[in-house]
Amino acid sequence: MNVEMRPNGPFGPKGEDAIDLLEADHRRVQHLFYDIAKLGAIHRKDERRVSLVNELCSELKMHAVIEETIFYPAVRAIIDDANLIDEARAQHAAVDDLITQLEATDFTSDLYDAIVAILQKEVSQHIQEEEEVMFVKASAAKLDGVALGDQMAQRKAEMMVDTNTSATALKAAHIQDALRKTP
Ligand SMILES: [Fe+2]
Ligand SMILES: [Fe+2]
Repeated sequence: MNVEMRPNGPFGPKGEDAIDLLEADHRRVQHLFYDIAKLGAIHRKDERRVSLVNELCSELKMHAVIEETIFYPAVRAIIDDANLIDEARAQHAAVDDLITQLEATDFTSDLYDAIVAILQKEVSQHIQEEEEVMFVKASAAKLDGVALGDQMAQRKAEMMVDTNTSATALKAAHIQDALRKTP
């Protein structure tokens, strides 16, 4: 996602609900997986694929930090299901391991494609569990979504400045725009 296209901040308009912000991240990640696969089908050795994978990994890392430091603790405090949060954290750790492997692998190798495929599977399952179980329970428990959303947006903005993520996001957004025009 092009951060410059989001004038109110890197996450979305100010005052947005925490769950809406997380779900917007989830959709962004799913679009990146789709575009990575599309580019791989056209030309597997296309270096633009690496830019999209870099953006994907950056999004996944920031998303996990925001959930683990802000969202999960808030949910843990209001729902009676500590296992749910522990399982989600374990899934994040598994995703993190895959990202580390990916970063150490030649992008033209079969192994790279295999790791991307496993990462997509793990992330898809995790997103589904969060949206269908954790977010539903948090909403039912009357989570203060707007206050939390502001904290999360601020944290994401800080991380993007710290890691110069905007440049990576901008590059990926240009590639994705070009791909949209490819039949
Ligand atoms: Fe999430
Ligand atoms: Fe998560």
